[in-house]
Amino acid sequence: MTDHSLSDEYKPTSEYERGRADRMLAIYRGKPTELLGRMQLNCHRHGGFFSIGHRLTLPNMPPRDIWQDCQDCKREQQDQAQRERAALDLVHAMRERASRVHGAGIPLRFRDRAFETYKATTPGQIRALTMARDYVEQFAENRAKGLGLVMAGHPGTGKSHLSSSIMLSLVDRYVVRYVTCMEMIQEIRATWRRDSDRSEGQALEEFGATIDLLVVDEVGVQYGTDGEQTLLFGVLDQRYRNMLPTILLTNQDKDGFRGFVGERVMDRLTETAKWIPFKGESYRATARKEAA
Ligand SMILES: Nc1ncnc2c1ncn2[C@@H]1O[C@H](COP(=O)(O)OP(=O)(O)OP(=O)(O)O)[C@@H](O)[C@H]1O
Ligand SMILES: [Mg+2]
Ligand SMILES: [Zn+2]
Repeated sequence: MTDHSLSDEYKPTSEYERGRADRMLAIYRGKPTELLGRMQLNCHRHGGFFSIGHRLTLPNMPPRDIWQDCQDCKREQQDQAQRERAALDLVHAMRERASRVHGAGIPLRFRDRAFETYKATTPGQIRALTMARDYVEQFAENRAKGLGLVMAGHPGTGKSHLSSSIMLSLVDRYVVRYVTCMEMIQEIRATWRRDSDRSEGQALEEFGATIDLLVVDEVGVQYGTDGEQTLLFGVLDQRYRNMLPTILLTNQDKDGFRGFVGERVMDRLTETAKWIPFKGESYRATARKEAA
């Protein structure tokens, strides 16, 4: 029955079964096999194809004949498996990103505020968008040199929006964190309680040393008490010494901001931060109309 001439006349003893050949050959790997020849089989999807057959023998077992599967089916299965893997990878990547965005503390409202969603029509908006985009583009350098931004100006002009665009662009590659000034101060103060599980030093260390890009929103909203100024200075000075970039957001103008953060912070910022002015009308009324 053995046919070494690869004729097409061999008649299989069993029905052709999809996928069986690979499974069997895996089991019999390294065991003696005998080439049976080649025959035409019929794939119910791709029609006739030539299959190479082997006879596999194990001691005390009847020999088994294995005929190669349809190669088109095999390719389809591999493509399908590849597509499934890719889809799974995508799901993992999306989950990973969602968890990083969540971990970064980017507020829910701003989680979809990529650069593309910022409308720049006035010269001021165009300038702000360009500076924010440039900041991301040059972030490797900004990170290495500890260079940050101060976004300052009128309410509703897109400071939180554009700082979120920056964070969303970097969150996959860097440790970023968003806090309001008030939250940061409260978080540090919370360590003073007797039941706190970490020390003030540890909290300062987290804000001052472990975050690649810290965004502090609403600077200068509350009355700048000495205590608040001291804590803000503590964080910013540590980041300054560690050459870590910080983005500060404020409604104050330069003088008001200086009054709030104090001369020593201002002095450090002059060296390490670009000032982006936000002027004009609040976008919030427009945003409401667009949503309606
Ligand atoms: N140029 C713009 N294009 C599209 N949406 C914008 C633009 N500017 C602001 N917005 C939207 O308007 C709303 C208010 O903007 P945002 O919260 O960023 O302002 P802000 O400058 O942080 O204000 P505040 O100082 O009061 O915190 C947000 O929903 C924001 O996405
Ligand atoms: Mg804001
Ligand atoms: Zn097939």
